[in-house]
Amino acid sequence: MKIAVVGTGYVGLVTGTCFAEAGNKVTCVDIDKAKVEKLSVGRITIYEPGLEKIFLRNIKEERLRFTTQLDEAVEDAEIIFLALPTPPGTDGSADLKYVLGVADHLGEILKGYKVIVNKSTVPVGTADKVSAAIAKNFSGEYDVVSNPEFLREGVAVDDFMKPDRVVVGTRSERAKKIMSDLYAPFIRQGNPLMFMDERSSELTKYAANSFLATKISFMNEIAQLCERMGADVDMVRRGIGSDNRIGKRFLFPGIGYGGSCFPKDVQALIMSSDEVGYDFEILKAVEKVNANQKLHLFEKIKVYYQNNLQGKHFAIWGLAFKPNTDDIREAPALSMIDALTKAGATITAYDPEAMPNVKAQIGDKINYASNQYQALEKADALIIATEWSEFRSPDFEHMVQALDNNKIIFDGRNLFDIPFIKSKNFIYFSIGR
Ligand SMILES: NC(=O)c1ccc[n+]([C@@H]2O[C@H](COP(=O)([O-])OP(=O)(O)OC[C@H]3O[C@@H](n4cnc5c(N)ncnc54)[C@H](O)[C@@H]3O)[C@@H](O)[C@H]2O)c1
Repeated sequence: MKIAVVGTGYVGLVTGTCFAEAGNKVTCVDIDKAKVEKLSVGRITIYEPGLEKIFLRNIKEERLRFTTQLDEAVEDAEIIFLALPTPPGTDGSADLKYVLGVADHLGEILKGYKVIVNKSTVPVGTADKVSAAIAKNFSGEYDVVSNPEFLREGVAVDDFMKPDRVVVGTRSERAKKIMSDLYAPFIRQGNPLMFMDERSSELTKYAANSFLATKISFMNEIAQLCERMGADVDMVRRGIGSDNRIGKRFLFPGIGYGGSCFPKDVQALIMSSDEVGYDFEILKAVEKVNANQKLHLFEKIKVYYQNNLQGKHFAIWGLAFKPNTDDIREAPALSMIDALTKAGATITAYDPEAMPNVKAQIGDKINYASNQYQALEKADALIIATEWSEFRSPDFEHMVQALDNNKIIFDGRNLFDIPFIKSKNFIYFSIGR
């Protein structure tokens, strides 16, 4: 099939590349000229494990190309995916200006029948708005379909190629047939392709992310209790996770959820609920708990140094909002950096992939190390903000040397077993233990 993907960020690039990998001919469109120039010469713009290899292969096989021209991309396409940003507007609700802006433009350039598929995370009713925007200038046939994306950064290629489920919101039989054909190669293992109406599909995405965020905030509150009651959250986590109604995953406490999705999607669902006169109380609490949790480790640092962080120097391991990505949107490490520097501390950080993005955002507010041990030099303590696997089994001798015997770790991700780290004579603070 011929496909256009509008918006070539984390979702658009993975979507375009994976559809090309299944044999489709894909044109990805982006308004960012520099990004399109880079991608066109085979330089990948995001770090996502396994993506570069198939990206290069599909460019070479001429199934994947990039352009800044929407009309050129959609001319031959049977399906047009929208993978555009839906950032929070000033009131926290999802800002639809990118999605509706492209929909307006599509209305001006469509010629024949197309399926316009919205992959962005959008409030309920957006399919109708996209349809209306197109209809302003185009009176031919088209279908607007909701197809929320559930990929996780860091394992996005696997998630896309072997999704747990594909949700498609459409009541059009014609669009259903096209979407079934398109997704057939991705659901061969029996994972469901679920058809539903557009509104249910749009809400499914917000419900999924909000539920996951709730699970995290719930565990962070249990961790708070553990600290006050002398229990160990690792034990409690295992104890409840083995109940398959609860499940083992997403039960890890930490320094709050971040990323480009959970914070904005929770906020947007609260706003959408308000708009229909419903006070989504649990989600408001989820947000509040998360905001507090992002500073929980900082509070421990402050207590340890008796409220005097002036002139202290910290090493931070991990800047990305989670491992295996270079994405730093709403990363808890950034809140930590902000709090520490405001309190007069200095920082040297190391992250395997996210340092260029952090540099672009905050420049020389902190120092950057070329490896995890260099970050420790002259530091009063180490702070762990992202659970990259290379931080899990470090060379402790090397650490002690680099830290000049300041054997103090504030671990926001519970990387180390407590008896083990104590046997190495570290002063060790973690979450909920
Ligand atoms: N990142 C994730 O893990 C993830 C997962 C599921 C769903 N989503 C949702 O998918 C959507 C996209 O997220 P993302 O993380 O890929 O965003 P992103 O910011 O990485 O990418 C968006 C891209 O769209 C481009 N763009 C903006 N306006 C454009 C226009 N008019 N024409 C063409 N391109 C334009 C931007 O330049 C950018 O490259 C959001 O709604 C997000 O909530 C994201």
